[in-house]
Amino acid sequence: MHDLLELAISTADVAGVMLIDKRPADLRVAATKSSPTDVVTEMDQAAEKLIIERIRASRPGDAFLGEEGGEAAGVSGVRWIIDPIDGTVNYLYGLPDWAVSIAAEVDGEVVAGVVAVPTRGELYTAARGEGAYLVHRDGSTEKLRCNSGVPLERALIATGFGYFAQRRARQAEVLLGVLPRVRDIRRAGSAAVDLCSVASGRVDGYFERGPQLWDIAAGGLIVQEAGGTIGGLHGRPASVELTIAAGPGLYGPLHDLLAPLAPERD
Ligand code: IPD
Repeated sequence: MHDLLELAISTADVAGVMLIDKRPADLRVAATKSSPTDVVTEMDQAAEKLIIERIRASRPGDAFLGEEGGEAAGVSGVRWIIDPIDGTVNYLYGLPDWAVSIAAEVDGEVVAGVVAVPTRGELYTAARGEGAYLVHRDGSTEKLRCNSGVPLERALIATGFGYFAQRRARQAEVLLGVLPRVRDIRRAGSAAVDLCSVASGRVDGYFERGPQLWDIAAGGLIVQEAGGTIGGLHGRPASVELTIAAGPGLYGPLHDLLAPLAPERD
C-alpha cells in the first residue's frame, strides 16, 4: 500500500508540474463529451498519457481506468483510477481550483488516494487505515479532520453540477430545496477539491448528482481517513446517482434532506 501511495504522490506531482509549465497560452477545447459544456483539452489527454505511462513503467501488470479513455485490464489485482484534470473548465479559464486525482484500488477497494492541487501547492494524501494528510508546498504537513457536529442550518455545503444537460435541470431543482436549509452553498468546480475541502474542514459537507468514479475515488478515501463519511442514497455507495460526504453528525441530516429531493431520474 505504501509503495502505491508513493507512486501516486510522485506521479501526481510530475503531472501537476507539467500541467502548469506546459499549459498553452491559447489553450482550447479539444473535444466535448456528454454535452457541449463537458469539455476535454489537449492537456487532459497529455496528462492522462503521462500518468499511465509513468505508473505502467514501474507496475506493468496493473489495470487502469482514466477519465479520458485510458482503460486497460491488468493481472496484479491493482487498478489505478485517474482523473488527470478534475476541474477542466477551471483549468481552461485559468481558475485555480483544479486537481490531479489518482487512486489505487486493490481487489476492488481503494487503499491509497492522492489529490494534487498544483496552483495552490497542496497535496492531499490518504492510505487506508492510516489517516489523511495535507502536504503544503514548503513541506509542512497537517493531519486532516472533517468538521464534526455541525448542524445542517449552519453547514457550508459544496456541490457540483455534472455537464449532462438534462441532469443540470434536476440539479437546479435539488439546489432549490437545499439552499434555504443550510448556511450557504459553494461550487468550486472540482469534485476532488470539494472532497478535500470536506476532509480539511474548509467546508462542512458536499453533495453532487452525477460525479463519476474518477472524480471521487481518491477524494472519497481522503474524506473517510479524515473521519468523515462518503456514500449515496439509502446506504448505497457513492455514485453518479448521488454522492454525499460530510463529517460526523452532519452526514445523516444531509442525506435525509437530499433523499426526497433527489428521486431516481435525471
Ligand atoms: C467535473 C468536476 C465538477 C463536477 C463534475 C465533474 P471534470 O470533473 O469535478 O466539479 O461538478 O461532475 O465532471 O470533468 O472537470 O474532470
